[in-house]
Amino acid sequence: MTSSAQPDALARRGPGAAPARAGRVRVPAARRPDNHVIVVFGATGDLARRKLLPGLFHLAAAGLLPDRYQIIGSSRRTLTDDQFRELAREAAAEFGTSQPTGAVWQAFQERLSFASADPARTGALAGAVARAEKEIGGTPMRLFHLAVPPAAFESTVATIGAAGLARGARVIIEKPFGTDLASARTLNHTLHALFDESQVFRIDHFLGKESVDNIVAFRFANGLSEPVWNRKHIAYVQIDVPETLGLEGRGGFYDATGAYRDMIVTHLFQVLGFVAMEPPTSLDVRHLRAETAKVFDALKPIKPRQAVRGQYTGYRGEPGVAPGSGTETLAAVRAEVDNWRWAGVPFFLCSGKRLAASRQLITLGFHEPPLRMFPVHTARIPNGRRNEIVIDFADPGAISIGFLAKEPGATMRLGAAEMTFRYADSFDTANGLQAYERLLMEAMLGDQSLFTTSVSVERLWEVSAPLLENPPPVQPYAPGSWGPQPALNRLTAPHHWHLPGATTPSPVTEPLAPA
Ligand code: BG6
Repeated sequence: MTSSAQPDALARRGPGAAPARAGRVRVPAARRPDNHVIVVFGATGDLARRKLLPGLFHLAAAGLLPDRYQIIGSSRRTLTDDQFRELAREAAAEFGTSQPTGAVWQAFQERLSFASADPARTGALAGAVARAEKEIGGTPMRLFHLAVPPAAFESTVATIGAAGLARGARVIIEKPFGTDLASARTLNHTLHALFDESQVFRIDHFLGKESVDNIVAFRFANGLSEPVWNRKHIAYVQIDVPETLGLEGRGGFYDATGAYRDMIVTHLFQVLGFVAMEPPTSLDVRHLRAETAKVFDALKPIKPRQAVRGQYTGYRGEPGVAPGSGTETLAAVRAEVDNWRWAGVPFFLCSGKRLAASRQLITLGFHEPPLRMFPVHTARIPNGRRNEIVIDFADPGAISIGFLAKEPGATMRLGAAEMTFRYADSFDTANGLQAYERLLMEAMLGDQSLFTTSVSVERLWEVSAPLLENPPPVQPYAPGSWGPQPALNRLTAPHHWHLPGATTPSPVTEPLAPA
């Protein structure tokens, strides 16, 4: 796939330029992208303020941006260059890892400018890009980041086309990639009218997280893990992203979206793709994407009875939310990957707002061996939670292995034991990049390994169709709880929903039946 991107990219960089590298999971820090004009659409919005502008500045401060670059902010609003610089400075000060001061900030802000986006009058944008390219010299690459709400998507693509800026450019688009199969197809159609697939970078920032990448390393670089990573040894998989966060001023967007579309069909399924994939032939973009696509192909359609939809009490009174809203603020599903590796192993995926804790966890639970020789009734451990690999993929990330050990003493009594690897203890994480920063780098380098394809996006909507067409009613849960019970436990039976290390004991962790 990367190779089909080459003719355009090479044409823009000149015949002597080195080809963009084949996809790899790790970006060597020393490698810098070619000179770039970066246009951020939605530059006055929340995503730009929280992630993109601070992230670009952090990349600049870390010396990872191209030698010569210009960043153009664009939105419906009209800002002067100085107003945009001030907006970027405030964003970096509030949300960034590098403080916007001194010579580094000075050099960065000199490369910022602003042009309003209007499909009917594209002169301002085209002029700003031409000025930026002249300032850089040669034929720099163009990168467009569409940090705009779904409703503004088509008009933004139309603006790029009408301004004559699409040829050879790369475009980053944000989830949700549609709201169902039909809208995803329309969206892909709109994109493909201007860009071929090699130019399109569908961003799912979970794939930029260090610990999600590390799933590939942990699984395939260790004789310890890969041989047991299958249905013979693993009884269930859980992917949990509970959040204490509420709507954070995004009521209108969220009420039209809900937890399933906001989190499960995007982030959690992508993580599932990494957990469940077969060993790729190489880490080349082509092979990695082929393996995740095979996982999505093997997913069984999600039926309504395999899902729980919850809504926290008080949600309907939130600003931007319809008074009688039936939108779910928690979604949990039991997914099945119907292939030789995973047939019969349930994958439980759950994410929700206003829950008891914020965690990002993958749990692989092993089948229980015969324990006849041990007086297990004396084990002081929750039912069914004896043997697990738990991957905590919230930055900086950790991996724990839960197992049974003999408690010290004269009698053979089993106790729950744990071994934990923590990124922060084992590696220098000081120079780490945040997920968005990492993915911005990948897009500038032309590496699509960590970005989703149109085919995979459409497949995930396809398996979601039975649930989306016939959603079960939402069940209320108290803010600060672990979601609606007993519905969640019924979904996982005979397994038990459990969040290891959750600070508050939760009803979800209680066994269904006595040990
Ligand atoms: C976003 C969702 O994509 O991911 C948000 O729209 C969610 O609702 C967020 O809170 C979680 O990601 P992170 O990495 O910020 O925890």
